[in-house]
Amino acid sequence: MPSQILITMDDLETAVPLNAALESAGFTTAMFSSLDDARGAVRRENPDLVVLTGAVHDPHATQLAALARDAEISTLALLEPTDSERAERVGRLGVTETMMKPARPDEIVETARRLIERRRFQERTGIIGESPAIQEVLVKIEQMAPVSSTVLVQGESGTGKELVAKALHDLSPRRGKPFIAVNCAALPETLLESELFGHEKGAFTGAAERRLGRFELADTGTIFLDEIGEIQLSTQVKLLRVLESRTFFRVGGSQPIKVNVRVIAATNRALRDGVALGEFRDDLYYRLNVLNIYLAPLRERREDIPLLVRRFIREFAQAHDRPFRGITGEAMQRLVSAPWPGNVRQLRNLIESMVVLAPGAEIRAADIPPDILEGPGSLLPVRIGSLGHGGAGSAGPELEFILRSLIELKLQVEELRRRLDDQPQRVQVIELGDHATVADLLPAGDGDGAQPVVYRPGMTMADVEKAAIEAALHEYQGNRRKAAEILGIGERTLYRKIKAYRLE
Ligand SMILES: Nc1ncnc2c1ncn2[C@@H]1O[C@H](COP(=O)(O)OP(=O)(O)OP(=O)(O)O)[C@@H](O)[C@H]1O
Ligand SMILES: [Mg+2]
Repeated sequence: MPSQILITMDDLETAVPLNAALESAGFTTAMFSSLDDARGAVRRENPDLVVLTGAVHDPHATQLAALARDAEISTLALLEPTDSERAERVGRLGVTETMMKPARPDEIVETARRLIERRRFQERTGIIGESPAIQEVLVKIEQMAPVSSTVLVQGESGTGKELVAKALHDLSPRRGKPFIAVNCAALPETLLESELFGHEKGAFTGAAERRLGRFELADTGTIFLDEIGEIQLSTQVKLLRVLESRTFFRVGGSQPIKVNVRVIAATNRALRDGVALGEFRDDLYYRLNVLNIYLAPLRERREDIPLLVRRFIREFAQAHDRPFRGITGEAMQRLVSAPWPGNVRQLRNLIESMVVLAPGAEIRAADIPPDILEGPGSLLPVRIGSLGHGGAGSAGPELEFILRSLIELKLQVEELRRRLDDQPQRVQVIELGDHATVADLLPAGDGDGAQPVVYRPGMTMADVEKAAIEAALHEYQGNRRKAAEILGIGERTLYRKIKAYRLE
């Protein structure tokens, strides 16, 4: 079906030649003189693109753009050169892309084609986002899907690694063939090997029958090795052999088995650090890292948040059959600036709970649990004190609050651990025996140099964080900018923490 484009006729001199150029490029077009008619057409026809040729600051145009955005339809606004000076107003239009007039019709056609292709691609993959980071991921998926080379997908927890792996499979010639996912962290080592490679009857106690492993089940398709950073060295050797020769032995077997499998691996740890620490074989790392895709954390691509929020509201309103209008501007603003240590998964879960629990037909700022808005690692105590104030006196909101707090706490601990893992050379965490003291570890008489951060049994994560901040401030003689940089946090976050821990 040819793509359909709606064109507003506010600027006829632009609209008419553009209409002709788009038609001769094979698009179906419709021109509208009234923005009201255009709105009706957006609702009815679900076009692929709306082009605003003029009067872009007219409130009707803004409404049209908002309507299109809610339906995930791209909008292209053609601006007068004078509009560019009012960049802030242009930003408020809420359109997908802008071009400056006079633009050549063939240039507009090219942009239109790109926007439409992007929308189609996002529909096929389910990967939402307009940020350059996500656009780059989509381009990579398009390039990498057709080949059979191994891909390593890296990114924090909840950034969409599995979604990307699935898209690589679904857009490859292997679609329709098996896609087998294995979570390498979920199984103990011995079970993982028989899970991956299968086992022969009698290979070990309990192996009553021959069992096929995941590699055999994935033959002709794709195997997704999730949390690859967690596998032990002995299994790494076997995996390396599969990657090199596509052959392996079932546990207890002596016949080599050959398979035709594409391998996609994912990890939320920096594998290169694992290599440096000797926990991950470098030859395996290079074998896995033939092609790689990095998923940036959500806090580094905040422009994607409104799109995700709208998509999830729509999805869950439908799934739970709740008539839901959307979200207020203020609530959206808060979600955009929240820290999201659990990335898209955390956002998605939150939206689901809000769609189910929000008292009205709209998410308001007051519906957002306050802990969502606090920085990762702020490690404020779980607010048990707010229990019992949760809504209409039912147990639901309280239970929900406790669960949410626990998940948040877990995410904060994970985030803190990740930061410490990321900076092994900067902050040293030393485990002390029961009787040792800090003084035992400090180099005698050495006033300058790095101050170690010491862990003693019984310390909480907050204690460790406080000690890390003290050490960094000490190392940089109180220079907060440098300390924040070295700790890998923002300066404002550092100020907040200094206050919270009373380190002033
Ligand atoms: N760009 C995106 N657009 C739409 N949905 C997304 C996007 N990124 C992630 N999601 C959704 O967020 C959730 C988490 O994604 P996924 O399971 O792929 O993350 P992950 O990186 O594998 O996480 P983990 O490391 O914890 O396993 C899923 O429900 C997924 O559909
Ligand atoms: Mg995953």
